[in-house]
Amino acid sequence: MKTRVFGRLGWPVTEIGFGAWAIGGSWGPQDEAVSKAALHKALDLGVNFIDTAAGYGGGRSERLIGEVLKERGLKGGGNGQVRVATKIPPKEPGEWPPVASERCEDRYPESYLRDQLEERLRNLKTEAIDLLQLHTWTRAWNRDPVALGTLRRLQQEGKIIGIGLSTPEQDQNAYNELVRAGLLDAVQVIYNIFEQDPAEELLPLAAEHRVGIIVRVAYDEGSLTGRFTKDMTFPAGDFRRNYFSGDRLERTVAKVERIKETVARVGGGKETDLAAVAARFVLRHPAVSTVITGIRSVRQAELNCAYGNLPLLSDELFGALKAHAWRRMMWHSGFP
Ligand SMILES: NC(=O)c1ccc[n+]([C@@H]2O[C@H](COP(=O)([O-])OP(=O)(O)OC[C@H]3O[C@@H](n4cnc5c(N)ncnc54)[C@H](OP(=O)(O)O)[C@@H]3O)[C@@H](O)[C@H]2O)c1
Repeated sequence: MKTRVFGRLGWPVTEIGFGAWAIGGSWGPQDEAVSKAALHKALDLGVNFIDTAAGYGGGRSERLIGEVLKERGLKGGGNGQVRVATKIPPKEPGEWPPVASERCEDRYPESYLRDQLEERLRNLKTEAIDLLQLHTWTRAWNRDPVALGTLRRLQQEGKIIGIGLSTPEQDQNAYNELVRAGLLDAVQVIYNIFEQDPAEELLPLAAEHRVGIIVRVAYDEGSLTGRFTKDMTFPAGDFRRNYFSGDRLERTVAKVERIKETVARVGGGKETDLAAVAARFVLRHPAVSTVITGIRSVRQAELNCAYGNLPLLSDELFGALKAHAWRRMMWHSGFP
């Protein structure tokens, strides 16, 4: 599979990475044997970048990754072959994403970060984390980002190789100031056919400052694969029951239908899989290092890895898809 350089850390990372949220939890029933088989298949097909988090099934995703890498004779971090990025959430109680009135030192105090890091190392069965990301943040903390100072100390102690932040859902350009200041090795961002803001600000800036860009939610939690219908239902325990509740699913499917029309018209009948288009829409930007497609089965590992071998999206189709940006803002709160 094609690789790109991961910012100033210099790692060659595969264009398609493994998004490991669903194998942890919150996506309905998920069999651990299926999750492990999916991980093995993706690694067999060349994937060398995995994204997980403490919060994915209370560490279950991390533990499965640690087990699978061990089965392959690798440590779950710092092994130099498969890079694993994980995340620490802000300390509770507090808002998600954090709000400007909260203090960085209260949500990410040093003793908490140290304890959390030790747990990540245990789950991943390793002595060093390739990329430690703070799971969320508010741009109000950019003036005095004390938690990044703590991560820098942990890096000097050899427990972390790279330092990253994952964007809050409503603010994809929250870290531009930190990128300019040289404080980050990587940013994890939402960038897809609907959410196109990062292309104008964050992505060019990241290229200039050699910051790795990890793109998440390329499929808009599944809608941009083109497999959704307005009458479908999500199983119990799948967060998308809420995420696409009320009229959201119907509105989203209507938007996706218009995208399909554009793809059929401009793609000249050659582009028949919308997921392949959605992944390559993201990869069309040279500042993107890897797109961590959500993978929960062997079939999805095969499909997504195959997209990493396809040619870039044509200029015409990429240009036409720009018209489908959708300013939907934040859907993670206010559920009925
Ligand atoms: N705040 C954060 O930092 C944050 C938030 C969200 C995600 N993430 C990370 O980003 C990763 C990716 O995001 P995501 O998993 O939420 O969403 P996503 O990649 O937009 O969508 C993933 C879902 O799309 C479906 N899918 C995947 N490949 C497909 C294919 N080739 N054809 C058809 N359907 C396919 C699967 O759902 P079904 O199996 O149900 O069909 C899969 O679970 C996560 O796994 C996680 O690592 C981070």
